[in-house]
Amino acid sequence: MPAEQAGWSRTRRRIHWITALLVAVGFVFGLVMKHAAPDDLLTLFLMFQLHKSIGIAVIALTVWRLMLRALRGRPPWEADLPEWQRRAAASVHIALYALLVVVPVLGYLSAASAPRRVPTLFLLVIPIPHIVEADPGLFAVVSRLHLALAILLVLLACGHAAAAVHNHRLGRATLLAMWRGDAPAREQATPAHMPSARR
Ligand code: HEM
Ligand code: HEM
Repeated sequence: MPAEQAGWSRTRRRIHWITALLVAVGFVFGLVMKHAAPDDLLTLFLMFQLHKSIGIAVIALTVWRLMLRALRGRPPWEADLPEWQRRAAASVHIALYALLVVVPVLGYLSAASAPRRVPTLFLLVIPIPHIVEADPGLFAVVSRLHLALAILLVLLACGHAAAAVHNHRLGRATLLAMWRGDAPAREQATPAHMPSARR
């Protein structure tokens, strides 16, 4: 077990992998409920609620994660990672964080503005109020954007995962750092306001 190393904390690793799983499942569910919808209305209703609950969980986890990021920064980059790759990785990370918020928000706006009024029940029990009225014009825009940016999120995440595997194969600890908390080969840490070794 790695101890007292400047790697990702267990909480942050769990949030990362759970979010990745939720996005993958939520994306497939979204496509299935929209394009291969079952005839049975109850099943369709349950699929929508599950899809919406997954997306709401993604937002909640992302807000938590961004708070931890702001408080603790990130572990040091691998010492031999070229500057341009750090910049590219950092830009992709920012885009992923932005999409993790924007995609579910657009999904929520789609649900709220849909001409057919269907309530949003988080985990089937907690009602989430719709802050906008049914509006076919708004729905047409936000539901298209929701799909387009969901596809962008998944494509970016695939590129990001490929880069992580590529770096792993080059012998860098990037992937193991996110998988089991290994510390990257040491270098100076990026802004961190917490003295803790675990980030
Ligand atoms: C990361 C989170 C999410 C992803 C990846 C995602 C992905 C998708 C995808 C791929 C579709 C199919 C769209 C199409 O083919 O036209 C869809 C539809 C939909 N999503 Fe999401 N979604 C997410 C979060 C949410 C949330 C949080 C809500 C609501 C609270 C939501 C509500 C909807 C609704 C209502 C539709 C159907 C829209 C329509 O009828 O055109 N989604 N989503
Ligand atoms: C929807 C799927 C995914 C999303 C949204 C996502 C998002 C992110 C974000 C935002 C970061 C930056 C963390 C930070 O600097 O605060 C990150 C880091 C990381 N992710 Fe993912 N990720 C996903 C899937 C994956 C997959 C499938 C892999 C591996 C196969 C992976 C491997 C990594 C690694 C190794 C890091 C650490 C990178 C570094 O230290 O520079 N991610 N991820």
